[in-house]
Amino acid sequence: MSRLRIFADDHPDEPLLVADAHADIARELARIGVAFEQWQASQPVAPGADADEVMAAYRADIDRLVAERGFRSVDVVSIAPDHPQREAMRAKFLDEHFHREDEVRFFVAGSGLFTLHVDDRVYEVQCVQGDLIAVPDRMTHWFDMGPEPSFIAIRFFTEPDGWVGHFTGTDIAQRFPRYQP
Ligand SMILES: [Fe+2]
Repeated sequence: MSRLRIFADDHPDEPLLVADAHADIARELARIGVAFEQWQASQPVAPGADADEVMAAYRADIDRLVAERGFRSVDVVSIAPDHPQREAMRAKFLDEHFHREDEVRFFVAGSGLFTLHVDDRVYEVQCVQGDLIAVPDRMTHWFDMGPEPSFIAIRFFTEPDGWVGHFTGTDIAQRFPRYQP
């Protein structure tokens, strides 16, 4: 299930707050400018469905978000636990970084762990099937897909020149829990 844990950024052992009700998670994240929504498929999405079929099932929500936020492109990424590059893919965004555009991901299937570092707090967000998270431009964060990654996600982009992580060089991500789904 979806879960939010909030920590002081110097106390990774003991969360200050744990929430698993969607409304509670959305409320806490809204305080720091992070959108968290739950979307329902308009039709079933079968395993192995192609990108067009995936997007067709969520067309109304996709179109709404694109209109609201001005995204220029939308794609679908799918990673299975036996992916030959899974270790390299996992490692890519495991350290604290930010982007110069919003990071917006909708989980069609599977799960992943976004952890956000805002002032002296750390917000660990377990995203599962049906969850949309929108991490604002320049918010420091990291993402862990776990040792056996399994998810299908819809990604939204505004910049045409690809997805760039700007790394802060801190070791904070290594002090907080890694993803063990
Ligand atoms: Fe990121």
